[in-house]
Amino acid sequence: MRAITSAAFWRCALLLPYVLAQDEAATAPSSSASLLSSISVVIPSSVSSAISATALSSSAPDISASISSFFASASSSVSASISESSGSSVVSAPITASSAVATPQVTQPRIIPPISSYTFSPFPVPSDVPLPPVYPSVDPSSPPDVGESTLVIPDFGPAWKAAYTKAKAKVAGFTLEEKVNVTTGVGWQGGRCVGNIAAIEPIRGRGWPGLCLEDSPLGVRFGDFVTAFPAGINAAATFNRRLIRARGLAMGQEHKGKGVNIALGPMMNMGRQAEGGRNWEGFGGDPFLTGEAAFETILGMQQGGVQACAKHLVGNEQEHFRTTSSSDIDDRTMHEIYAHPFLKSVMAGVTSMMCSYNLINGTYACENDKVLNDIIKREYGFQGFIMSDWSAQHTTISAITGLDMTMPGDITFNSETSYFGPNLTDYVNNGTIPESRVDDMATRILASWYLLKQDSSSYPATNFDAFNPDKEETNEHIDVQDDHNTVVRQIGAASAVLLKNEKGALPLGKKDRSIVLVGSGAGPGKAGPNEFSDQGGSDGVLAMGWGSGTANFTYLITPLDAIQSKAREFHSSISWFFDDFNLPRAGNMAKKRTTALVFLVSDSGEDYITVDGNEGDRKNLTAWHGGDALVQAVAAQNNNTIVIVNSVGPLILEPWIDHPNVTAVVWAGLPGSEVGNALADVLYGAWNPSGRLPYTIAKSVSDYPAQVNLAGNNRDVLSIPYTEGLNIDYRHFDSFNITPRFEFGFGLTYTSFAYSGLTVTKVQTEATPAEQPLITAWENGNATAIGEGSSRALWLHRPAFQATFQIKNTGQVFGGDIPQLYINFPASSGEPPSVLKGFTNTEVSPGEKTSVTITFSRYDLSIWDVEHQGWRKPAGKIGVSIGASSRDVRLKGTVPV
Ligand SMILES: *[C@@H]1O[C@H](CO)[C@@H](O)[C@H](O)[C@H]1NC(C)=O
Ligand SMILES: *[C@@H]1O[C@H](CO)[C@@H](O)[C@H](O)[C@H]1NC(C)=O
Ligand SMILES: *[C@@H]1O[C@H](CO)[C@@H](O)[C@H](O)[C@H]1NC(C)=O
Ligand SMILES: *[C@@H]1O[C@H](CO)[C@@H](O)[C@H](O)[C@H]1NC(C)=O
Ligand SMILES: *[C@@H]1O[C@H](CO)[C@@H](O)[C@H](O)[C@H]1NC(C)=O
Ligand SMILES: *[C@@H]1O[C@H](CO)[C@@H](O)[C@H](O)[C@H]1NC(C)=O
Ligand SMILES: *[C@@H]1O[C@H](CO)[C@@H](O)[C@H](O)[C@H]1NC(C)=O
Ligand SMILES: *[C@@H]1O[C@H](CO)[C@@H](O)[C@H](O)[C@H]1NC(C)=O
Ligand SMILES: *[C@@H]1O[C@H](CO)[C@@H](O)[C@H](O)[C@H]1NC(C)=O
Repeated sequence: MRAITSAAFWRCALLLPYVLAQDEAATAPSSSASLLSSISVVIPSSVSSAISATALSSSAPDISASISSFFASASSSVSASISESSGSSVVSAPITASSAVATPQVTQPRIIPPISSYTFSPFPVPSDVPLPPVYPSVDPSSPPDVGESTLVIPDFGPAWKAAYTKAKAKVAGFTLEEKVNVTTGVGWQGGRCVGNIAAIEPIRGRGWPGLCLEDSPLGVRFGDFVTAFPAGINAAATFNRRLIRARGLAMGQEHKGKGVNIALGPMMNMGRQAEGGRNWEGFGGDPFLTGEAAFETILGMQQGGVQACAKHLVGNEQEHFRTTSSSDIDDRTMHEIYAHPFLKSVMAGVTSMMCSYNLINGTYACENDKVLNDIIKREYGFQGFIMSDWSAQHTTISAITGLDMTMPGDITFNSETSYFGPNLTDYVNNGTIPESRVDDMATRILASWYLLKQDSSSYPATNFDAFNPDKEETNEHIDVQDDHNTVVRQIGAASAVLLKNEKGALPLGKKDRSIVLVGSGAGPGKAGPNEFSDQGGSDGVLAMGWGSGTANFTYLITPLDAIQSKAREFHSSISWFFDDFNLPRAGNMAKKRTTALVFLVSDSGEDYITVDGNEGDRKNLTAWHGGDALVQAVAAQNNNTIVIVNSVGPLILEPWIDHPNVTAVVWAGLPGSEVGNALADVLYGAWNPSGRLPYTIAKSVSDYPAQVNLAGNNRDVLSIPYTEGLNIDYRHFDSFNITPRFEFGFGLTYTSFAYSGLTVTKVQTEATPAEQPLITAWENGNATAIGEGSSRALWLHRPAFQATFQIKNTGQVFGGDIPQLYINFPASSGEPPSVLKGFTNTEVSPGEKTSVTITFSRYDLSIWDVEHQGWRKPAGKIGVSIGASSRDVRLKGTVPV
């Protein structure tokens, strides 16, 4: 019996208390000129109502989940609101791309102008020329080894070309209606997966099996016998490309095993605000780290056989009003921060992207010609397809502005209408949208399918049923877990960040004769690992956040489970106390114990589930369940209090971080099903901690450059100006001299490392005759010319410089270090003082020294020149800092350009 029905889960996507339409873009798709559009908003008179769904056995007040079910009760008024009449008020505001959206002013009803003036020419396929050894031609099923991935840039051009040839031949045999059907989802819950493209009937040999699209970025959502992988934020915290790739590969294999064609991840929105509800699905607060993690994840997933989906394009950094807010991002910040991970995704050969719910500069993401056509398809030369987030499409004309597929297909869930489908056919038949564009859309979708060899007869058919897990006819219950628990456990250990370790508190061992585990986060939830639908709640150990970015746990090893096994091994005595609120008793139980482990959690997720007043985004940055008081109560009685934190993102630790009895802090993130084992590996020293913070932990909430914007009124478009520009996360703390509690890139180890002997040199590679003038112009400080695929030109991305230095293990135990390379641009460049542009992981035995090389490219040394619309090396001396974190600089040098 579930109070939360499966139909409730994607309410996120059932859109809008209003309809928003934009005027036609005044420019052709290939123009980089800013769009002039106007926005109109129609507000239905009835707005939302909410029901409360109490989760199973949720006795404590802070764990009840309430689902905002506006759509369940109001869907009829939503469809009604699509026509402009029905007692709605109408708001319209002129929006220009060059001015941030202000609160729209009430003027006059929307006027839909004629839209027949569009011209369309499909973007040509970029003509990549493989240039071994740096730029070898590869197939997604055999990407370069991870060890080579900073030296070798895979070229998927020839593989795309072959896939396009097959796709064009196939599409040529389709009727217009069939081509349109390839672009149109079958409607909400119209098939076995969260998104479905129907088969083309095998008439006259032109059959095609259709597509299964399935969440999530950390596993197969709604699948059984699947692995619950560590969240994206933990993959990032490893700073370890090999592990990130391995996770991607294992996830790709599991999706393929279940018969999924397109897995809806990775998620690469930025940790712009510490409270952002879905930050944990992504890779943190730095664009370079996010880009590298996206790159390796996609290479892995697609090697596993499934198509990856880079999402959410772009600016979807908060949950609050995500469908009615405009992320207003200047061009340079867009290129250098928010779009960068999508560029890396294209370089990884990603076949699909998902445009986001929000508006960008006042134009919906899925209608945004500048982003979809100009940046993604032209500058980045993206050859795959762009799908809408679920119901994030707003017009049929989005086909012209770059959208290739609508998901789940219907305008609102179960409306039996679509912006594509018959509407798209009509628009083609009456000459509004050229048929060549529909050919392009269908070709992109089919080419992606061929690129991943999903036409092979051995590609598994879909063998699970997302919305009907109990229906035997449609569920084969195939076990796809293989030995992926080992990847989960390794990443769990490698992503744990040791923040404090005094008086030899860690690692644990024989000295820890009596251990107490305090806090609900140490043990199991009250009703099993899948107690809350879509993980929308937390009353035990926290190993993932909530929402669509989740998977069911097939099993879950708690810290209690794992530490009990260790106690048997070490002959130590164990007790536990899971009541977070009985402070006197928690303190009493901690008395006289050699060691007290206190477990804190902080959860967040997607906005269609509200947990304890957190509507997706976190409402504060303090520990849940009174965790700070619990630490203080235990530390008052025990001089060896070790705090373990399972959190979706930063917390303010000031209440207790300097407490003399808090001897150690382990930041464990969201490690998935092996959470307990991975933690025990770190606590007992089987794994010497090597994780690094993928975001900054501040001393105060107000120290962060941006907060979730809680303004807005459900009627107007909420403007979210990204005024901090390039200064997100640690860049802001550096720029404004704010001392954080723990900076980006920080993490301790059980040993120590010394750095020495930095040299920074040019990498000697042959340039082709065509490249030489481009390189010279760049060296002279000229911006690159814009063109098809120009932002991923080989000469711009191949390793051009390298930093070499030595790392010595000066401690007593074997360990891994994560040296980081930061570039220090001259102040006149407008860049923050220090920006991450390289990292690696290296393992060293005690007393030994190893040589480390980190390469970087011309792109890494470029800024986006808004005036010339190209990448440019800023004038002046460019410095290099090698360090153990963004602030712990050990070596300094200069780039020889
Ligand atoms: C958004 O507006 C800013 C400021 O005018 C501009 O620099 C940027 O290119 C615009 N971006 C898009 C996607 O329209
Ligand atoms: C296209 O899809 C619609 C809706 O699923 C279906 O009714 C129609 O038969 C399909 N047309 C063709 C030609 O496959
Ligand atoms: C076509 O789109 C309009 C909205 O622009 C919608 O009202 C209508 O129902 C759609 N038609 C079909 C057949 O889905
Ligand atoms: C083309 O068809 C669409 C969908 O029926 C309609 O909304 C639009 O007004 C038509 N345009 C022209 C120029 O007839
Ligand atoms: C996933 O867990 C939910 C409970 O949260 C359960 O209803 C559902 O059946 C599970 N799905 C599968 C495929 O086991
Ligand atoms: C912050 O939010 C959490 C989760 O809702 C809650 O448990 C905690 O009490 C809140 N903290 C403060 C200081 O209000
Ligand atoms: C630290 O713990 C000891 C018990 O081991 C206790 O007596 C002392 O008061 C604690 N210190 C603080 C500052 O709470
Ligand atoms: C805690 O107190 C005990 C008893 O006074 C002492 O033996 C032990 O060394 C202390 N531990 C730490 C970590 O300070
Ligand atoms: C680059 O810029 C310089 C100075 O603005 C200019 O003189 C030169 O012609 C440009 N072109 C090349 C190819 O260097």
